[in-house]
Order: sequence, then structure tokens, then C-alpha cells
Amino acid sequence: MRHNFGAGPCILPQEVFRQASQAVLDFKDGLSILEISHRTPEFEAVVTEAVKLVKELLNVPEGYSVLFLQGGASLQFAMVPMNLLSEGQTASYLDTGVWANKAIKEVKYFGNAHIVASSKDANYTFIPKDYSIPEDSAYFHCTSNNTIYGTEMFSLPETNVPIVCDMSSDIMSRVIDVSKYDLIYAGAQKNIGPAGTTVVIVKDEILGKTTNKIPSMLDYTQHIGGGSMYNTPPVFSIYVAMLNLRWLKSKGGVAEIEKENIAKARTLYTEIDRNPLFKGTCAVEDRSRMNVCFVMEDKELEKEFLKLAEENGIEGIKGHRSVGGFRASIYNALSITSVHRLVELMQIFAEKHQK
Ligand SMILES: Cc1ncc(COP(=O)(O)O)c(C=O)c1O
Repeated sequence: MRHNFGAGPCILPQEVFRQASQAVLDFKDGLSILEISHRTPEFEAVVTEAVKLVKELLNVPEGYSVLFLQGGASLQFAMVPMNLLSEGQTASYLDTGVWANKAIKEVKYFGNAHIVASSKDANYTFIPKDYSIPEDSAYFHCTSNNTIYGTEMFSLPETNVPIVCDMSSDIMSRVIDVSKYDLIYAGAQKNIGPAGTTVVIVKDEILGKTTNKIPSMLDYTQHIGGGSMYNTPPVFSIYVAMLNLRWLKSKGGVAEIEKENIAKARTLYTEIDRNPLFKGTCAVEDRSRMNVCFVMEDKELEKEFLKLAEENGIEGIKGHRSVGGFRASIYNALSITSVHRLVELMQIFAEKHQK
């Protein structure tokens, strides 16, 4: 059995793979999902259901639009300031790592970025907490889960400034109060579905205020008007995302999966803290429930443990080069059985190497 701990694109439920494969062969009357027009009623029903599932699963209030776009979360780094900033205005950003920095880099094309706080000096091992957001910021941008470093934001700052959040790696993993946010975006390839589409949840009233001239494909209002079909959408990605969201609903929704995610994270962090060979890399209160980063006290042993893990079906636990060590991504579809297997191997390894 393989246990896929990859950071993304990542594990999705087997039944979703099966249903998606079937639709490649026969989606409707012998036609493949890959060959039908996006304008058919059958595909329009897919988009409608996908949007409805996002709204239902996250309890999205009235007054928000849900979009399935393209270009990844990375395009949102630019679309956000393009749609929400006007020349001369400033937006505030929390610097929690590589992805936050990539978002900050795009702001200069449209206005100014003010960094309210950063944990760069500590290699992003914690989420800064004591900072203030200038009242005149056009918006405040944060990254709820820092996939590379394994930190997660469990609370939002108190502010009247609109909040924009990159939720690429923890959306659908825990209950959130969408009404606290003005815009949420997430590349699909973690807990939503396969790569190729990006979910945006935007409060309608914040749009249409910028003085920027926005090309149609980059304008949220155009996509809202087109029902996520302003142009040919990524049909297959949206279809598989819809299947995956159906799966999540059938499991009891986000509140239920959150319980499983808490249990999985607790199991793994408990072993990291107990096992003398391993140690966690992040501040305990900011530890991510999606990406668990850890290293070995003895760096020399890391290669050997990685080899043992790979020989035992554990995939994708090599840490990102900027952190080193290991990163076990434990997204929604990864079962606790896989976590138990990893923990068991850590214990076997410790027994072998303890003096
Ligand atoms: C938190 C976060 N933001 C943004 C991105 C970039 O996403 P994309 O590759 O969809 O542009 C990633 C990718 O892993 C991510 O983890």
C-alpha cells in the first residue's frame, strides 16, 4: 500500500479517482467528459453543483460569489491588487513565507505593499501576532497555511480593513467563518481537487471600486457575470473538484473532516515530540494541521530514514529545500492509517538507533 504524504498536487480519495476515470470513458451517452462542450446543460450542472457545494461546505453567506478560475493561486497574487487597489493606495501584507512574498511582489504593479510583520528572521517558524494594520490600507492580506514551513494561522487580527486570504493549503480542512473575510482564494490542488482550477470566494460589495483598467480575463466582475464560464473553463478539473467536494459532503462536511485532521495531526506531533531522534521545526501554537514539518537531531540519519520510509510505501515526505528534513502533508483524503504507518516507522527507526 502507498501512503501519499505529498504537499500538492496531493492525495485525493480513491473513489474520486474511480468516478473521474469512468467519466473520461463515458460521462453522458457514451461521450467523455473530455470531449463535451462546456455549454452543455450537463456541464453547466457540474459548475452549478460545484459552486453550491463550496457554499454549503463553507457556509458562505449571502452577498458572496464563488468562482472557479484558472492561473493558480499565483495569478490571484496579481488579480487581488489589480481588482482591489488603485494607484497610490497601500495594501497591508503579513509576511509568513515564500507564498506571501510572491503575493507581495505583485502589488508594486498596482500600488504599494506595507508589511505589517514578518517572521523571516526565524525562517518563518512562527506566525507573527502583535502587529497593527493601518486603517487606511485598501486590504490586509494573509496566508492561512504556510505549506512550506508548516505554520497555520488559527486566528485573524481584529481590524476594520477588508481581509484577503490565500487559503490554498488549508481550505476545506477546518471550519472557518467566511463572513470575516472579504476575499478568499485557493489553488485547488490540495483539498479541493486536482490542479488546474482556483477557487475564489469574494464579497461582491468590495468589487468595482478600483480606478484600474482591468483586462476582462483578470476582472472578477467579468467572471461573476459569466458564471465562471467567461471563457472555456478547465472542465475536467472542475468536474473532479465537484466529485471531491461531494465526497467531503458525504463524510459529514468540513466539521467532521476537521475532527479527523486534528486527530491525524495530534498523532504525528505527539510522536515527533516523544521520539528522541526527531524534532518539530515550528512554534507549537502555530503548528499546521496540514503540513507537518520536522527534522532529525542527527542530520546524518535523515537520508536513512527517508530510504526506510520510501521502502515502506511512504511517499513525498522529503522537506522543502528551505526547511530541510521532512514534511508530511496530511490533507483531507489521507487516512489515519497512513499516519499510523509513518509513526510506526519512526518508532522502529528510533529503536534501531537509540544508544
Ligand atoms: C499557500 C500557497 N499559496 C500559493 C501557492 C501557489 O499555488 P499555484 O501553484 O496554484 O499558483 C501554493 C502552492 O503550493 C501554496 O501552497
